[in-house]
Amino acid sequence: MSITTPAMIINGTEISAQIREELKKEVAELKAKYGIVPGLATVLVGANPASVSYVTGKEKAAIALGIYSDRRDLPETTTQKELMDLVLTLNNDPQINGILVQIPLPKHLDETEVLLAINPKKDVDGFHPMNLGKMMVGEPDFLPCTPAGIQQLLIRSGIETDGAHVVVIGRSNIVGKPNANIMLQKKHGANSTVTICHTGTRDISHFTRDADIIIVAAGRPKALTADMVKPGVVVIDVGVNRVGMSSSGKAILVGDVDYEPVKEKARAITPVPGGVGPMTITMLMVNTVKAAKMAAGLA
Ligand code: GUN
Repeated sequence: MSITTPAMIINGTEISAQIREELKKEVAELKAKYGIVPGLATVLVGANPASVSYVTGKEKAAIALGIYSDRRDLPETTTQKELMDLVLTLNNDPQINGILVQIPLPKHLDETEVLLAINPKKDVDGFHPMNLGKMMVGEPDFLPCTPAGIQQLLIRSGIETDGAHVVVIGRSNIVGKPNANIMLQKKHGANSTVTICHTGTRDISHFTRDADIIIVAAGRPKALTADMVKPGVVVIDVGVNRVGMSSSGKAILVGDVDYEPVKEKARAITPVPGGVGPMTITMLMVNTVKAAKMAAGLA
């Protein structure tokens, strides 16, 4: 007879709340001691429902922490020139420490040009090649928010990463690639052996069955099923898939992991919603406060 211990559910909402409490104190102290109020500009082009919901969450989180929030909602018809001009204005605005342009942008706009135009010292998303390069050499100013949040989830849940085999499924510029890079750094909460799997990988389960920690950012439901994992694995689900509407009109969300069967085998797992999602916003706040401190010569 085997006795199995139920998986630890890694509660991103709770861990987020802890970090936000710490940040709230830091923001209050910055104001009291130095008269500094960190400022975050969020730029949304168009009205993609997921993007509207993310930007609203970011704006609310900033306000709740005492961060100045400057939200710019631009019409779908915004031109490249108008968007570039706004970025340059925000680059030169001393009240603004962090600039976030929500992606994806409408198809007619050149995302790369826009992201490159953001002053790297205000790039609180950590998307600028300057910041990605600094991350890669182990000297980051701003880590991309979702991977940084995942690292915090692991650290604050007491999960050993040192020497662990971490398998990342997905190679996007905002999650998979930076996440793999963060986990291989010779640092606390990292120092792992990292494998990246993607749509070109021949047999993903060959790698996932050997993994101690699996980070799934594949962008489709049930990308990770129970037969693909070993008992005792730690699973981080980055997926946000809208699979329908509830009777009250709310989007029904599922992650990329076949949650119930994988949970049966796992030592720890993140739920969707309430796992990685809240951490992304929280790490954006962490980066915004850091940007304000950097601008004042305090970091
Ligand atoms: N779209 C999806 N995630 C993100 C994010 O973290 N930042 C921005 N700017 N856009 C996103």
